[in-house]
Amino acid sequence: MLLKIAVLPGDGIGQEVTTEALKVLKTVADKYGHTLNYEPALVGGAALEKEGVAITEATLDLCRASDGILFGAVGLPKYDNEPMERRPELALFKLRKSFELFANLRPVKNVPMLQNASTIKPEVLAGVDLIVVRELTGGLYFGQPSRRYTDEGGRKAVDTMPYSEQEIERIVRVAFELAKGRKQKVTSVDKSNVLNTSRLWREIANEVHRDYPGIELEHLLVDSAAMMLIRKPASFDVIVTENLFGDILTDEASMLAGSMGLLASASLGTATNAAGGQFGLYEPIHGTAPDITGQGIANPLAAIGCAAMLLRLTYGLEKEASDIEGAVLAVLEAGNRTPDIYETGMTKLGTTQMGEAVANSIRG
Ligand code: IPM
Ligand code: MN
Repeated sequence: MLLKIAVLPGDGIGQEVTTEALKVLKTVADKYGHTLNYEPALVGGAALEKEGVAITEATLDLCRASDGILFGAVGLPKYDNEPMERRPELALFKLRKSFELFANLRPVKNVPMLQNASTIKPEVLAGVDLIVVRELTGGLYFGQPSRRYTDEGGRKAVDTMPYSEQEIERIVRVAFELAKGRKQKVTSVDKSNVLNTSRLWREIANEVHRDYPGIELEHLLVDSAAMMLIRKPASFDVIVTENLFGDILTDEASMLAGSMGLLASASLGTATNAAGGQFGLYEPIHGTAPDITGQGIANPLAAIGCAAMLLRLTYGLEKEASDIEGAVLAVLEAGNRTPDIYETGMTKLGTTQMGEAVANSIRG
């Protein structure tokens, strides 16, 4: 099979971890006789510096011509006070919006051997296997008006959270479809005691539920969901929620896995690719981590998990995807840890060494 992928490492540790994900992807391609045809391009701060914008039209075209995108991370402290037009994050928003990647899937699974790496008690973590379906192209991230201004009352700012029934329906449907192949439960998270958008969300979720009588639907307010995620995380199966709630809850949920450095995500839309699979953007949920950039200690396992998700969802290559995931478990089982999940008695590895260890395990 020909694997045609756009590789966008971005900023900070995005570069370091994407290198390892690519290494693993090459190893799997070699092992199973696939041809990996990948094209790298700049995004985020890296692109702003060299090309003047967070993402060029040429890079968007490159993505359009690919089956899927392997993404690192974007964002740098030096742009903190810049308006959105000059921020690295704009690259991500343009990609999400141009390809209508409305469904962001963020699986969270507790690996027993990492239970001590988490700040949460092992008995609470036992059996955690959930997936957050985050709406990715609506809500506060894209709503207009969104601006800063000054009037006689002083400095002001506004952001807007719009949602249409179509936007809600399609994302809630993704959640129900996923639940079918899992534990048959959907938790819809909103703030319907305060927000109009949330009341519409809940109404639509109930309507879609009628098409899925075998699936349990539970509604939780987002504040309560945040609490339940650490009180009884194993009770969740599929969580579906709007853009910002999903962003916040998944950083929290990453602690159930043990570290932000372990969580991969897939952003999918309506587009299919030449391979007959889904076009997707695969991105670790962690950011650029400026505090550890360049030290060679970032955990590449989230990025490597993205490579597995890409093979599975964009190409339907289940065996290859499972091979990567199995190799990751084997490497952890052998006691290898990056600093973020290190415990005494284990072997501490840097980013490159960890990537190498996974690639070696795949080679067998
Ligand atoms: C994420 C990130 C992004 C988001 C940032 C980098 C804009 O935090 O993918 O979770 O908020 O969506
Ligand atoms: Mn986030």
